[in-house]
Amino acid sequence: MNKKLPPLPNLELLGKLGEGGMSTVWKANDLLRGETVAVKILNSDLTASDEDIALFKAEARTMSEIQHIGIVRSYDINCYEGIWYYTMEYVDGYNFNALLSRKQHLHESDCLLICESIAVALDYAWNNFGVVHCDIKPDNIMINTDGVIKLTDLGLCHTFQYLKDGMRDIPDHVMGTPAYISPEQVYGDIEPDCRADIYSLAASLYHLSTGRMLFPGLGNEDMMKAHCDETAQAKDPRTYRPDLSEGFCQLLEAMLVKNRDYRLPSWKDVCEMCLAVEQGVAFKPRKGPVSSLSLNLSESVQDDEFDEEPAELMHVPEPKKRVFHFFKGGGKKKREPQIQIDPESGKKILRKPKAVNAGFKVNKPVDW
Ligand SMILES: Nc1ncnc2c1ncn2[C@@H]1O[C@H](COP(=O)(O)OP(=O)(O)O)[C@@H](O)[C@H]1O
Ligand SMILES: [Mg+2]
Repeated sequence: MNKKLPPLPNLELLGKLGEGGMSTVWKANDLLRGETVAVKILNSDLTASDEDIALFKAEARTMSEIQHIGIVRSYDINCYEGIWYYTMEYVDGYNFNALLSRKQHLHESDCLLICESIAVALDYAWNNFGVVHCDIKPDNIMINTDGVIKLTDLGLCHTFQYLKDGMRDIPDHVMGTPAYISPEQVYGDIEPDCRADIYSLAASLYHLSTGRMLFPGLGNEDMMKAHCDETAQAKDPRTYRPDLSEGFCQLLEAMLVKNRDYRLPSWKDVCEMCLAVEQGVAFKPRKGPVSSLSLNLSESVQDDEFDEEPAELMHVPEPKKRVFHFFKGGGKKKREPQIQIDPESGKKILRKPKAVNAGFKVNKPVDW
């Protein structure tokens, strides 16, 4: 928490919009731009290390370079009296975690709209800049008063740096939020690509459509293990919301395959499947590697003769270029896998049970 915030140059702070572990977001008048903006201020107490500051700068730069209606855009970054902050487009609306706490669950059509909007925005970010958000969750998805869905908080985002010789330097800061994190982010030994966000979006949509998290009632560490554990599967969403379509549940199942090689591989595939669900298409049952979701498929679909086809490895599109100024956290050191096998018991153990962004407080709009 900031002990005392000095008046920031050319900004008139109007009120707090949200507060996280590392930063606070304010609504403000930008006196130079002559418009309302949101200002994200890095907490100035002891917690802000050099690496935090570097990540904060990278977040602002990435948000200014990716210019897409579906991703909140940042304008200026500045440091005043030791306080780092950046201004960004103000989203006159709310985030979906706040909405969920009011409505318990969202309708399938709203979830499909969120899915498609985020898929289009992240398809752009991935294909053009190699950007993986790494922290997709209802908190970080907003909707404005025109109904435009916008992704915010690129604080953990990663720019893909696949090296042809197979040597990958995985930055230390790649993590996520336990309830929605992809298995590969938990393991931490491979570089995350667009498929990590595809998993987290589906985990978010499961929560939004049913009002329940994939693996509720667990502590952070056990939740992260559950994403990786082949025997841990969430219930069919129709257990809670019988009105959800089979196609919608199959879409989530395909996005939630634990082994990313068999997961829905690209945002284009997610969009196509979304459109098919909207049109009421029934899919063939997915066979092969375990998903974090277990479905009770109807008999007519189960009888399909294509069932026996082996699961094929999915093709992932490679990004065209990288974000220009990306900060590489952690210097040259290579990150150790977070999940290791205990030689004695043969069980998986989590080496670094570090959870980032585990909670957030949001001020609800007054007219709710
Ligand atoms: N541009 C914005 N306009 C309006 N509200 C915002 C904006 N950015 C963030 N918020 C609100 O502040 C909350 C926290 O912002 P976020 O960038 O996610 O910070 P953190 O990194 O601390 O999670 C969001 O969930 C949202 O409710
Ligand atoms: Mg956030």
